[in-house]
Amino acid sequence: MSVERVFRMKEGVGETSYAKNSLAQKEALHMVKHITIHTIIDLYVSKTPQTLHIADLGCSSGSNALSVIGEIVKVLGEKCCEISKPMPEFQVFLNDLPTNDFNSLFVALPDFYNKLVKEGSSEGSPSVFVAGVPGSFYGRLFPSNSLDFIHSSFSLHWLSQVPPGLFDKDGKSINKGKMYISKTSPKSVTEAYFMQFQEDFTHFLKLRSKELISGGRMVLMMQGRKGRDQTDRNNILYWELLAEAFASIVSLGEVEQELVDSYDIHFYSPSLEEVEGIVQSEGSFEIDHLEGIEIGRNSSKAIKTGRATAMTIRAIQEPLIRHKFGDGIIDPLFERYGELLEEELAKEEVKSLCLIVVLRKLT
Ligand SMILES: C[S@@+](CC[C@H](N)C(=O)[O-])C[C@H]1O[C@@H](n2cnc3c(N)ncnc32)[C@H](O)[C@@H]1O
Repeated sequence: MSVERVFRMKEGVGETSYAKNSLAQKEALHMVKHITIHTIIDLYVSKTPQTLHIADLGCSSGSNALSVIGEIVKVLGEKCCEISKPMPEFQVFLNDLPTNDFNSLFVALPDFYNKLVKEGSSEGSPSVFVAGVPGSFYGRLFPSNSLDFIHSSFSLHWLSQVPPGLFDKDGKSINKGKMYISKTSPKSVTEAYFMQFQEDFTHFLKLRSKELISGGRMVLMMQGRKGRDQTDRNNILYWELLAEAFASIVSLGEVEQELVDSYDIHFYSPSLEEVEGIVQSEGSFEIDHLEGIEIGRNSSKAIKTGRATAMTIRAIQEPLIRHKFGDGIIDPLFERYGELLEEELAKEEVKSLCLIVVLRKLT
């Protein structure tokens, strides 16, 4: 087993890494492109299937999913020319929750197919068949032994649920005034978050090991944290400020404190060691590569991007907040959140860590 732990710095990347198809995610995808490409070529050369079955899990509705698939098709075409093998056909499954705007992806398909035709080699254009698969990746999505390659970027840090351990036996929050792990949270809050991630990621690995062929690969990227400290500013700032924005709304009498206390984020950023430990104890996969990439933000851009960051977090949190608190607080809440983010990001940059793990299914 070769496990690499390399930390690379990338300063001044634009949007927040929680955003749907944000610039930082695009940048991180670009930074790990060589790893994804190496993995798929290695898989193809070792198996040479007639059809490659690929899934992107948590694809969202932006352009990142199709650009990753386009890149895979392009480099495999080049590789097949180089080694005089026939180009495989590609069956591509784009997965996200049923509420995802799949239609935005589907309307982009004609342009995607046209581009493949234009870039096709003398051997002809590649055959790529794309389908949407709505459903949670915390449940089965595909038949047994049906996939060769799974890609998932910036989705696995979203937990299947808010950890039940955040509430006492009467259903009261043990993390009052906060929405995620914070410096003032009891230790049991950190433990509850880790336990939920451990349970979810273990379950995810078990499900995917059923769906992948023997020797099949996964390239998984997720938000992570650098050290043991769960309360490092880089790890918690966005959620601390969201809790502060909620506190402003409570002080205006717009919403009850008790209701805010019962709202928590179903998110966890693991360390490399935690990911490695879970993969090893689950036992279905070998780790080919494990790496953390630090994505910085320079403060001169922060003034411009504070509000944009608020908007991108709003895109993910709004349906949940609306469901719990109603329509009325959404605009003032995110207005205040944008102001707080601008102030804080102007003081000091936030460096997010992207974890990338490449897994090979054991027989
Ligand atoms: C920040 S977006 C990432 C989009 C894209 N993969 C990228 O790298 O730009 C996270 C996506 O994960 C999806 N997601 C979260 N939990 C999921 C689950 N349990 N099953 C499927 N998709 C999920 C969300 O709906 C969202 O579209």
